[in-house]
Amino acid sequence: MGEIFGIGMSHVPYMMNAPENMLRMRQMLMNVVERIEGQPFQDPPEALAQLGADPEAVAHEHHRLHWQAFDRLRAYIDEVKPDAILIIGDDQAQCFQANNIPPYALYVGDEVDAKPFYMSRFPGDVEYVKRTWGVTPDHQYHWPCHSEVAVAIRDELIRGGFDIASSNNLNSDRWQNGLGHAHANTQLFLHNDDGRYPIIPLFINCYGTDLNIFGTMASGQAIEARAAHGYPPAPSSRRLYEMGRAIRQVLLKRPERVLVCPSSTWSHTWLTKKYHHMRMDVEGNAEKMRWFERGQGSLMADYDSPDIENNGDHEVRNWIVAAGIMGNRPMEITWQVTSWVSTGFRVFGIWR
Ligand SMILES: [Fe+2]
Repeated sequence: MGEIFGIGMSHVPYMMNAPENMLRMRQMLMNVVERIEGQPFQDPPEALAQLGADPEAVAHEHHRLHWQAFDRLRAYIDEVKPDAILIIGDDQAQCFQANNIPPYALYVGDEVDAKPFYMSRFPGDVEYVKRTWGVTPDHQYHWPCHSEVAVAIRDELIRGGFDIASSNNLNSDRWQNGLGHAHANTQLFLHNDDGRYPIIPLFINCYGTDLNIFGTMASGQAIEARAAHGYPPAPSSRRLYEMGRAIRQVLLKRPERVLVCPSSTWSHTWLTKKYHHMRMDVEGNAEKMRWFERGQGSLMADYDSPDIENNGDHEVRNWIVAAGIMGNRPMEITWQVTSWVSTGFRVFGIWR
């Protein structure tokens, strides 16, 4: 019988750039908000308090603390030495664009390629990438995948009623960077860039109709800014939770030891509709974090649209799938950060 372990984390795009560029990245998002809202961006009081007189120093400290949180999760991975890591992440009009948007999709190839540093293009980033990962920003990785488990999950899910899409090649004429940001960043932050632990990338359409927000922002390429007939809604939370439960049943029947890893920031400042994209939902997120901590992850199955979009929690859908897989196993929260400089509520934890 297989064993299932879990960690939860965020794929913080800011950590792909030098710490001094955190404020630059932030400004890019503030510009997006101004376009959406048609009014100047205004930080809430708690953001101003955190940013203080020296926001760059705050950014450097956030960088350091994020690395500390990632390192702690990596230490746990080395402790359990899983046969595979199931990375659950979103796609932001990268691998999956308007010509092909599945509600969820599993990568089933033996190997996956990734060129993850396409946003690492500000002054200082080349040095940062070199210093951190020992490569140049145009580097292409080839990471081993656990295709046997991936195929088993796909086939059994479809036979059991979950019509999951699959892919063995994420590149297209619209996207040539392989694995998208959620999964690739996660690999890099967990120091799995050497491919020591094979992965299984699972993609969830977390953004649904709000995928429109990305357009040219996601890749810097001239991809379509708006789908001609809109984007499909995200799958329902209940469906995602039930899919997680179905994945759990497949994993338990197999011999492998699999580590589940939902990867996403929860509430994002610039996604939170109820606060005009200028404040994240700290209070709601704190409550949901306690659900995970208390072993009440199943409550997430009833947390759905439009609340998710109003609270800027689009990406928490990755965690809802994980909640289904982990059942009501309590999570040890190893770090939580409400970062107004990198605009997100982030939870890091371990399901032992
Ligand atoms: Fe993301």
